[in-house]
Amino acid sequence: GREALVDGHGRRIGDVRVSVTDRCNFRCQYCMPAEGLPWLERSDVLSFEELTRIVRLLAEMGVGGVRLTGGEPLVRRDLPRLAAMVAALPGVEDLAITTNGFLLERDARALVDAGVRRFNVSIDSLQRDRFYELTRRDALPRVLAGLEALAAIPQAHPIKVNAVALRDFTEQEALPFAAFAREHPFEVRFIEVMPLDADRRWTPEQVLTGQELHDLIHAVHPLEPLERAPSSTARVYRFADGRGAGTIGFINPVSEPFCDDCNRLRLTADGKLRTCLFSVNETDLRTPLRDGTDDDGLVQIIRDAVWRKELKHRVNDPGFVQPPRSMSAIGG
Ligand code: GTP
Ligand code: 5AD
Ligand code: SF4
Repeated sequence: GREALVDGHGRRIGDVRVSVTDRCNFRCQYCMPAEGLPWLERSDVLSFEELTRIVRLLAEMGVGGVRLTGGEPLVRRDLPRLAAMVAALPGVEDLAITTNGFLLERDARALVDAGVRRFNVSIDSLQRDRFYELTRRDALPRVLAGLEALAAIPQAHPIKVNAVALRDFTEQEALPFAAFAREHPFEVRFIEVMPLDADRRWTPEQVLTGQELHDLIHAVHPLEPLERAPSSTARVYRFADGRGAGTIGFINPVSEPFCDDCNRLRLTADGKLRTCLFSVNETDLRTPLRDGTDDDGLVQIIRDAVWRKELKHRVNDPGFVQPPRSMSAIGG
């Protein structure tokens, strides 16, 4: 092992979110334009070996949590092989994935066999036409089939379902999702929409807060807070009547930022280290990886970048500047 990875504000880094591709098979309104984006050149994308080397070094510094993201991670060819390579690294204790579920019927079993133990599946509406409106793909039945295939695998649990919350849209989804969480053993989480859309159309008015959604659900199904896990994004509640198979969570990055104990790093598909979702400056790891820099050299570059990790995001400050990359190119 190596010395722990810490930032200049005393936060110990324990989690890395690895974007394996910038491509996606959906076109969610709050993320990507209908026509897609200019994709990275294949040669600019890190190979499995390059990705695994960086994750190995991070794991040696005590970063035990690894989450595979995208774009949509399952569109990367042979993803289960990468998952197995990462899962085999000493120090990787928690291998997770965030997916839109479209390819889960095909890949759920292979990913579990490769060692992925936690799955977050994004579903913004439980109504087919509204799902289509938001994602621009008529894919709800297929996503639900993927979720069902996943849920049939015991080692895939606990499963989380993520719904981005948008004003004038998600109010109508609150009770259907609450019913869904009562019937299924899933943690259903609403995420406040953040200014990371490629179109740069985000406004504060678009944000439907976690508190508002909590109140809509609580009025019908009383909720009780569970204790907040350290460095977690979500505030999670159980159904007070004890009759819910699952739970409800709220991820409130805009109304209730959780930066104070943030322990996360991000690696983009083209090998840039981001110390914040909203970082304006990135640290290039691909060039040193490819020009023969040794492990200690890479570790030093990583430590220097992490030391400067942002104290907090500035979404609510006047003069906030949206980062150049959209969510799809950062990786959630
Ligand atoms: P769990 O460990 O399963 O709780 O994962 P998670 O909530 O970190 O992962 P997931 O990919 O499901 O992310 C849910 C939402 O939280 C996404 O919209 C993320 O972009 C957002 N999120 C994750 N980490 C951060 C963060 O450090 N800052 C902010 N502002 N949002 C984050
Ligand atoms: N704001 C909040 N969440 C977003 N996601 C994608 N774009 C945004 C945004 N602008 C969500 C996805 C997925 C998770 C990784 O991030 O829907 O659930
Ligand atoms: Fe941490 Fe940045 Fe996320 Fe805030 S936005 S929790 S500072 S990574």
